Amino acid sequence: MANNNNCYHFFSHESQSNLMVVVLILLVLVLNRCHFTSGLESESEALLKWKQSLPPQPVLDSWVNVNQSSPCSWRGITCDPQGSVTTINLAYTGLSGTLQNLNLSAFPNLLILDLKTNNLTGTIPQNIGVLSKLQFLDLSTNFLNGTLPLSIANLTQVHELDVSRNDITGILDPLLFPDSSDDPRTGLISIRNLLFQDTLLGGTLPNEIGNIRNLTLLALDGNNFYGPIPPSLGNCTHLSVLRLNENQFSGTIPPSIGKLTNLTDVRFFTNYLNGTVPREFGNLSSLVVLHLAENNFIGELPPQVCKSGKLVNFSAAYNGFTGPIPVSLRNCPSLYRVRIEYNMLTGYADEDFGVYPNLTYIDFSYNRIQGEISSNWAGCENLQVLRMAGNSISGNIPAEVFRLSQLAELDVSSNQLAGEIPQEIGDPSTLYELNFSGNRLSGVIPVQIGRLLGLQSLDLSMNMLLGQIPNTIGNFNNLLKLNLSNNDLNGTIPYQIGNLAALQDFLDLSFNSLSGKIPDDLGKLENLISLNISHNNLSGSIPESITKMLSLSFINLSYNHLEGPMPKGRIFNSSSTADLSNNKDLCGNIKGLQPCDVSINVPSSTSNKHKVLVPLLASLGGAFFVSLVFVAIFFFIYKQHSGSSRQNSLNMKPNPFSIWYFNGRVVYGDIIEATKNFDSEYCIGEGALGKVYKAAMKGGQVFAVKKLKCDEENLDSESIKTFKNEVAAMNETRHRNIVKLYGFCSEGLHTFLIYEYMDRGSLADMLGNDLRALELDWPKRIDIVKGVASALSYMHHDCNPPLIHRDISSKNVLLSSDLKAHVSDFGTARFLKPNSPIWTAFAGTYGCAAPELAYTMAVTEKCDVFSFGVLALEVLIGRHPGDLVSYLQTTTNQSINFKEILDPRLSPPNNDDKHVLKELALVANLSLSCLQTNPQSRPTMRTVAQLLDMDNNS
Ligand SMILES: *[C@@H]1O[C@H](CO)[C@@H](O)[C@H](O)[C@H]1NC(C)=O
Ligand SMILES: *[C@@H]1O[C@H](CO)[C@@H](O)[C@H](O)[C@H]1NC(C)=O
Ligand SMILES: *[C@@H]1O[C@H](CO)[C@@H](O)[C@H](O)[C@H]1NC(C)=O
Ligand SMILES: *[C@@H]1O[C@H](CO)[C@@H](O)[C@H](O)[C@H]1NC(C)=O
Ligand SMILES: *[C@@H]1O[C@H](CO)[C@@H](O)[C@H](O)[C@H]1NC(C)=O
Repeated sequence: MANNNNCYHFFSHESQSNLMVVVLILLVLVLNRCHFTSGLESESEALLKWKQSLPPQPVLDSWVNVNQSSPCSWRGITCDPQGSVTTINLAYTGLSGTLQNLNLSAFPNLLILDLKTNNLTGTIPQNIGVLSKLQFLDLSTNFLNGTLPLSIANLTQVHELDVSRNDITGILDPLLFPDSSDDPRTGLISIRNLLFQDTLLGGTLPNEIGNIRNLTLLALDGNNFYGPIPPSLGNCTHLSVLRLNENQFSGTIPPSIGKLTNLTDVRFFTNYLNGTVPREFGNLSSLVVLHLAENNFIGELPPQVCKSGKLVNFSAAYNGFTGPIPVSLRNCPSLYRVRIEYNMLTGYADEDFGVYPNLTYIDFSYNRIQGEISSNWAGCENLQVLRMAGNSISGNIPAEVFRLSQLAELDVSSNQLAGEIPQEIGDPSTLYELNFSGNRLSGVIPVQIGRLLGLQSLDLSMNMLLGQIPNTIGNFNNLLKLNLSNNDLNGTIPYQIGNLAALQDFLDLSFNSLSGKIPDDLGKLENLISLNISHNNLSGSIPESITKMLSLSFINLSYNHLEGPMPKGRIFNSSSTADLSNNKDLCGNIKGLQPCDVSINVPSSTSNKHKVLVPLLASLGGAFFVSLVFVAIFFFIYKQHSGSSRQNSLNMKPNPFSIWYFNGRVVYGDIIEATKNFDSEYCIGEGALGKVYKAAMKGGQVFAVKKLKCDEENLDSESIKTFKNEVAAMNETRHRNIVKLYGFCSEGLHTFLIYEYMDRGSLADMLGNDLRALELDWPKRIDIVKGVASALSYMHHDCNPPLIHRDISSKNVLLSSDLKAHVSDFGTARFLKPNSPIWTAFAGTYGCAAPELAYTMAVTEKCDVFSFGVLALEVLIGRHPGDLVSYLQTTTNQSINFKEILDPRLSPPNNDDKHVLKELALVANLSLSCLQTNPQSRPTMRTVAQLLDMDNNS
């Protein structure tokens, strides 16, 4: 019998007696005992052994073996009637130590293992699968790491499996990180072995998880799983709670999961999932919670998402969802929290939502929603947060909204709301954040606003509000931020503004028509950091009290009629001349200002100097202002157009060859002027497409202007049209690693593109210069590779249609002043006719173009992937890899010493800096994967970017 064996074993270990007789007697005794207590010792012994391996802790004080007492009375232990342990429950006890010395084999009858919310470290024992009767496993919220043991798939009786909130990963993906040396991608292995040794990347969730058919709850959230969600989960037909959120899962949601009709709580948020969400998700008849936020999903939201009528929490924010707001959301009174902001959803604010008595939070900001604000919101009696910024919502702000007695945050900024602010605004006493910025609200600010005593942030900027600032504004005891800028407010600044004792972040009253003196009481705002009262009609002198504003770090008083001496204060010594400029007659001992007594008693020669200086400064300031206004107008116009209709902006100019997002002719002329008609003096580089010029505009703006080699003969109207669309698309892309394209102009003699200017030139130039290359240390280089990967991933996978670069090389990667990578020239390649000489020139760039390009013009994104591989390698080795690429492709049995090929100009990465080593190895591995001859075998840029990014987070 198994139990006898166990006991014998144990005993022969412990007993050191040489006396055979004694041993025999004891043995007989023990054997008898075992028969009747069915393995009690072995279980208690296993528990005690575990206890001994743990740091001493009071929670285990009851775990002592006095007189062979049964463990069944120990804390956290429950047994079956036979005295065998069925439950180990030490949840929430602060238990610390590891599971390494817990002999799981000793607990054949264990049903429940609950150790959640403790301080356990180390890994989950590999043999966890021996607990063959286990029904409940909860190790959540500990500090466990390592992989999820494959043996877990043997726990076929488990219905709740929760290992969430640890640092657990899956099985290493053998495809990406091959282990066997006969993999064709040999380079990968040798490099991996060299640098990868004990650094582990995230692993995938084994498909075998689907063997646990009885699962009702699977919670893996807050760990380090990456790769696909196993479709086998579709076998777990009882699954009700599925939490995979906050990992690095990628790929699509397997359709099989959509068929799990018992799902009530599904959380996928904060992963790298993409593709469309299975439509079946909408038909789940029990769904209560669905979280899809912060992934890369596209397509429509499931139209019947509230079919169950039980949906309480729904989030889909920060994805690329398009199409309408799900119809079933309109009639879904169960809703409690809804977050769908930052997508491209269309719909009508007044038609697509219903009345939700339980709703506390809804955010549909930054979508493409039109219509008006419905008075229905008043029916959502529990609503606390209502956000709909950045849509195209028009009409008035209905007074009913302010009937919401719980309302705390109302953000309707950046829409097209008009009319007056209703007087009822003062009604919800709970309101603490109000943002009406960027609309067309008119009329006066109602005095009733002063009843919002809890307000912390008030932004009414960029509207058309008139009249005086109400005195009641002084009531806001808790206000931290106040922005009333860019309106038509007039009258004086009420002295009550000094009562805003909590005001801290900013007070911005700029760009209004405020007049009179700056109130003395302003000085009472001791916590204020930024004060902007520029561009008004304020007069008189600056009150001495301003020096009492101890926190003040930014002050802008420019463009007023202020006069007299500047108070002596730290803030004025450090503020820039422009911030004080364009006033009537300010004086003081401050750079750029006239000393105060000079004009009275100093000889005329000195005062002459000042007479020259002041107008000069004024005019400099003026120029700055003009350019500011210009830029402001440009952004305003641009915003208007991109917001309403792109078609309009494309047709703005009669000339079919030009596309402008701002005042075309003026800028055209300015650019010709700034570059002295493209004088070589301003040339900062030359690419296959043409020369690049630096155009420093009068207002201080600097652009990079790329003058294309081609002229109009080369451009037929079809390619112009295509290109226009592309420029327009480019203009809408906002990615920190893509050079911003401001416009395109083809007029008269010149065809040029206007880009954001990058201080540090191209990566190629930087790497080509022995001195400058040193500035690019290993972490910076890794960062550059990551930046390029992220840009390409964005263009390939987040743009519709995908944009393919076709000419990725170190020449097209520009560096900003902080040495961050910015990919340039996106979209330009397609502009040129395939048979034009320029096309051949660039497609043939040595070693950069993917092999298949040489034979066929089928340009897929996998060509960009290849070029990226070359680029990444170039960054590592410091020069164009040239022949190394074909060498790596053709050698099958080659082991290159990675460290030998790294850029010799930098000192090799320090062996102790595991992080840098690991990242360099990853870059090398990925770059080699990208260089594979077969385009199909190359990873997608999405995968590359995710792997690089994942590493970032770990
Ligand atoms: C664990 O327990 C099993 C069954 O009781 C036993 O066979 C095994 O030897 C034990 N292992 C250790 C390392 O104590
Ligand atoms: C969802 O349910 C609707 C009607 O309730 C039905 O027409 C539709 O086919 C179902 N969709 C799927 C994908 O099951
Ligand atoms: C108000 O919303 C705008 C965007 O619409 C934003 O830029 C601004 O920061 C917000 N104001 C405050 C005080 O948060
Ligand atoms: C006012 O000045 C502050 C600080 O310099 C600045 O952040 C803010 O943008 C300015 N306001 C406007 C409307 O330009
Ligand atoms: C500005 O104030 C001056 C008096 O200080 C007044 O003459 C002028 O009309 C005001 N301008 C505007 C635009 O309000």
